[in-house]
Amino acid sequence: MAVDVLLGMQWGDEGKGKVVDCMAPNYDIVARFQGGPNAGHTLVFDGKKHVLHQIPSGIFHQHILNVIGNGVVLDPIVFQKEINGLIERGIDTVQNLSISKRTFLILPSHRLLDAASEAQKGKEKIGSTLKGIGPAYQDKYARQGLRVGDVVRSDFSDLYDKVWANHKSVLDHYGYDYSNLAALEKDFFAAIEFLKRFTFVEAEYELNKAIVQNKKILAEGAQGTLLDVDFGSYPFVTSSSTIAAGACTGLGVAPRHIGEVYGIFKAYCTRVGSGPFPTELHDEVGEKIRQAGHEFGSTTGRPRRTGWLDIPALKYAVMINGTTQLLMMKADVLNDFDEIMVCTHYEFDNGELTEEFPADLGAANVKPVYKSFKGWKSDIRACKTVDALPKELHEYVRFIEESTAVPVTLISVGPDRSETILTEKANFTIC
Ligand code: GDP
Ligand code: IMO
Ligand code: MG
Repeated sequence: MAVDVLLGMQWGDEGKGKVVDCMAPNYDIVARFQGGPNAGHTLVFDGKKHVLHQIPSGIFHQHILNVIGNGVVLDPIVFQKEINGLIERGIDTVQNLSISKRTFLILPSHRLLDAASEAQKGKEKIGSTLKGIGPAYQDKYARQGLRVGDVVRSDFSDLYDKVWANHKSVLDHYGYDYSNLAALEKDFFAAIEFLKRFTFVEAEYELNKAIVQNKKILAEGAQGTLLDVDFGSYPFVTSSSTIAAGACTGLGVAPRHIGEVYGIFKAYCTRVGSGPFPTELHDEVGEKIRQAGHEFGSTTGRPRRTGWLDIPALKYAVMINGTTQLLMMKADVLNDFDEIMVCTHYEFDNGELTEEFPADLGAANVKPVYKSFKGWKSDIRACKTVDALPKELHEYVRFIEESTAVPVTLISVGPDRSETILTEKANFTIC
């Protein structure tokens, strides 16, 4: 099959950036299919750290084409900053990056609307990244707004004015102060000019032609399954389709072209922003995980909430995505724990147990039921092979494989490209 999908199985930040970068040499094209600047994908190699927000994580491999798909919402101001950051590091992206003409644009007023909506929600706020994601997708589905292909139209600024007039009436309704808009608009129009140096394509044709030519495509997800607008912990979700099916609608490739679905998960769980999190730890163990895993957001710097691995949620993500291989990240973060807990079931208030992820997770108020595992109490960052990994970690992985009926084919033991181990079941290579 031509198109493999790589996506998060939890609440985001599983390590997608690292693995896409490691796997990219197996592909001709890496394509982002949803999300926008709410994403922060971190890559570490040659002693340097890079954080990407909207640009696909194959960008450091010059021979690979990187595509921003129609399912993405693109902020031109953030894009310009990202590209300039890459130029400073000597990476020329003009040749190997193209953008779908159908990609939806985030306008400065989308960011204001995001802030206004969150302020109005008060304590009930989603904890959004304030990048304008929700309002931009709202406009897309309301069939009003601008796409990348529109920026070359001679009446672009008239089109912009029409959308702004809409947004203005909503901001007036909220009583939200938009006195900084003129400054934001100046940056926006400069960024639109900057954007024009890139190739805008009918990406659905480019990708389908590549499929006919037997080229290989890796679809890179953002966020994670539990933040999906349909299947996540609604309403505490993002506004896009983060699941494997989203790769089809977000790129214009048919389901029959999808091959492997690589599901990335951390050896524990994290979540940024508000919303239910059954295995969350509010104690010193949670703090220890946060410190050991440097669990602070790549986009907003917010401390991430931490907790134990949640098997009902992982099994649900396997079912929704048709995950064919599981990739376990940040195993090294659990190096120094005597006991490692895994949630096997949820318990309702009436004592009933379930292995399923409830549609009303928040209201269901489930409590986790745990199984205890012995910690490995050793530093695995230097391990280069599966055989070198401690037997307690093997047991942990075996339990996850048995619970999900999906093989774990990659174990990540540190942030660097080189700190990555493939198991004997892996059918791919890494750089
Ligand atoms: P993404 O959004 O899924 O790409 O993930 P992020 O980049 O937001 O967060 C993952 C964080 O964990 C980044 O800081 C990575 O550098 C780091 N990381 C990735 N894999 C590992 C690992 O195996 N061990 C450790 N300690 N850190 C890792
Ligand atoms: P990556 O791709 C983790 C969370 C926000 C908030 C909710 C809605 O790096 O894994 P939004 O700004 O999308 O309206 O926020 O979703 N969120 C993420 N959490 N990783 C991400 O992306 C996220 N993108 C959004 O914190 O709870
Ligand atoms: Mg991230």
